Amino acid sequence: MASQLSFSFHFYCVVVCCCFCKIRTPSSSYAGLSGPANWGSLNPKFSTCSSGKLQSPINIIKNRAVENKKLTPLTRDYKLGKAILVNNGFNIGLLYEGSCGVLIIDGKNYTFKQMHWHSPSEHQIDGVQYAAELHLVHLSDSGTIAVVSMLYELGDADPFISKITNRLSDLAKDASAGYEEAHIPIGALDNKLLRKNTRKYYRYVGSLTVPPCTENVIWSVLGKVRTVSKEQVEALKAPLRAEFKMNARPLQSMNGRRVDLYDDKITN
Ligand SMILES: *[C@@H]1O[C@H](CO)[C@@H](O)[C@H](O)[C@H]1NC(C)=O
Repeated sequence: MASQLSFSFHFYCVVVCCCFCKIRTPSSSYAGLSGPANWGSLNPKFSTCSSGKLQSPINIIKNRAVENKKLTPLTRDYKLGKAILVNNGFNIGLLYEGSCGVLIIDGKNYTFKQMHWHSPSEHQIDGVQYAAELHLVHLSDSGTIAVVSMLYELGDADPFISKITNRLSDLAKDASAGYEEAHIPIGALDNKLLRKNTRKYYRYVGSLTVPPCTENVIWSVLGKVRTVSKEQVEALKAPLRAEFKMNARPLQSMNGRRVDLYDDKITN
């Protein structure tokens, strides 16, 4: 009886500990041995993170960006969509159900899939690292990824993040209670707030900034820097574990890549 009890207790412990380990031991992070410098060797699927030649993020040097008159305004058509707030482990994001947005680049449609934040910013402009960066991730039918990036400097609160601030604190409470994979439905958000300020953007070909660091991602980094409050940056970090709170991948080598500039003041 005693041994049976001890066996079930032992079994219970192993099961609980394994679940615990699965959540607690990430395959990659932003610190130590599992940090960005080692992502490429942590898993064969991540090898592009170290061997790739088109990696992101980069430092965009304004006076080296080439004005490209063939670039067109960023056409984005985001509808009111039901979103789910998620703790991706690496970052906090919003997942969208169904088709609630499209980005058109060179006549090709890229469906809006999800958005997530990094802080501090991953991309830099003339060596300036900003307080935060939003990535709007889109996917074409043929599997090409296009990301629109918005940089935020510290200042007034961002109206879009304001709409989800209460939910972010729910997510942080769930995280501290151990529910790190919490999904919080937040209903319909007006995505029009994300559509402003596309008169100027930087375009280059890069990669995902988290493993597996998939390449040939079409980046459009908006030239207009928005503002975010200090409290909002803290709210975006709160649900993340310590080794993910600073979730900017270091700058990657340009390897001869060119950054193009679209500026409607010049083009029109
Ligand atoms: C691309 O998106 C636009 C805008 O939503 C839509 O009008 C058009 O039908 C789409 N084209 C294709 C091929 O899906």
